Amino acid sequence: MQGLKALTVLCAALLLAPVARAANADADAAFAKSKNCLACHAIDKKVVGPAFKAVADKYRQDPAALERLALKVRQGGNGVWGVVYMPANAQVSPEESQRLVAWVLGLK
Ligand code: HEC
Repeated sequence: MQGLKALTVLCAALLLAPVARAANADADAAFAKSKNCLACHAIDKKVVGPAFKAVADKYRQDPAALERLALKVRQGGNGVWGVVYMPANAQVSPEESQRLVAWVLGLK
């Protein structure tokens, strides 16, 4: 009987996992919005800055990208996607920048 109970819990966890993941993605998008990133970026189309999915595709094979881009988000810069500058986003802390970039890089 104990085994059956464990199995039920496991099944419920497996069923709910995608829901939790979707809720996390929503929370991350809302966080990006609250930090003004979505004023210039959209997830799947270019606005002022590149589409976040295009950023994820570009750096998929680059393990150093998280660190580098988290710094760039805070300092600003240009020349990778065009001549338009991303201004420094000093409103985000280093930790917040990492969280935002990790979310961007994980987009599929
Ligand atoms: C005022 C407009 C603007 C805002 C606000 C903005 N960005 Fe950008 N972002 C840009 C532009 C323009 C680029 C392209 C820069 C380049 O070509 O190097 C860019 C590039 C990027 C890149 C890719 C950098 C690279 O070197 O490939 C990431 C990641 C990024 N932005 C994340 C963010 C995050 C996270 C925020 C919110 C904290 C944010 N951006 C806010 C305009 C903006």
